Amino acid sequence: MPVGANESQLERMIARLATQRALLDRAAEFIAGIDGPILEIGLGKGRTYSHLRRLFSDREIWAFDYEIHAPAHSRPGPDRILLGDFRESLLNGWTEIGAPPALAHADIGTESRRADAALAQFVGSVIAPRLAPGGILLGDRDMGCAGLTRLETPAVPLPEGIAPWPYYLYRR
Ligand SMILES: C[S@@+](CC[C@H](N)C(=O)[O-])C[C@H]1O[C@@H](n2cnc3c(N)ncnc32)[C@H](O)[C@@H]1O
Repeated sequence: MPVGANESQLERMIARLATQRALLDRAAEFIAGIDGPILEIGLGKGRTYSHLRRLFSDREIWAFDYEIHAPAHSRPGPDRILLGDFRESLLNGWTEIGAPPALAHADIGTESRRADAALAQFVGSVIAPRLAPGGILLGDRDMGCAGLTRLETPAVPLPEGIAPWPYYLYRR
């Protein structure tokens, strides 16, 4: 059963983080044979970035956020962080990034799914046509993503007793 309103905040956080780890690991398998950098859209405290860095130690990882909240050990160097509103940085960063991304992970949600919907659709519309062929877009909101195939997400192993957190997985 997906996580619901009856779970405590602690259980919801555990479900979210366990789902993110399982799906980032799954995404790494999907893109094993695909060249290209990794995008972390929503660097935040750098938790998922630090997992990406462990999975992709040999690839460039670019991170996006309004500002830096992540400690130095959980973020890229300043030359790989694109600061500002996603609505600008996602459109302006492509010359620097220099190659179609193999994986983009968008962790952009707030408490209000409704308020996040327009931004999520924007992220999907910018990333979908720029992904490498076979590349993956993974995120915590429905990003629409015309031209991409939405894949089922529950097919990942979660620790026993952990309910899946809603997450969205698309492949070009
Ligand atoms: C859920 S947090 C990311 C958590 C992070 N992935 C982690 O594991 O620590 C979402 C982040 O997206 C950033 N963000 C949200 N909307 C944004 C926007 N329109 N432009 C730039 N950054 C934004 C917030 O500042 C926040 O740091």
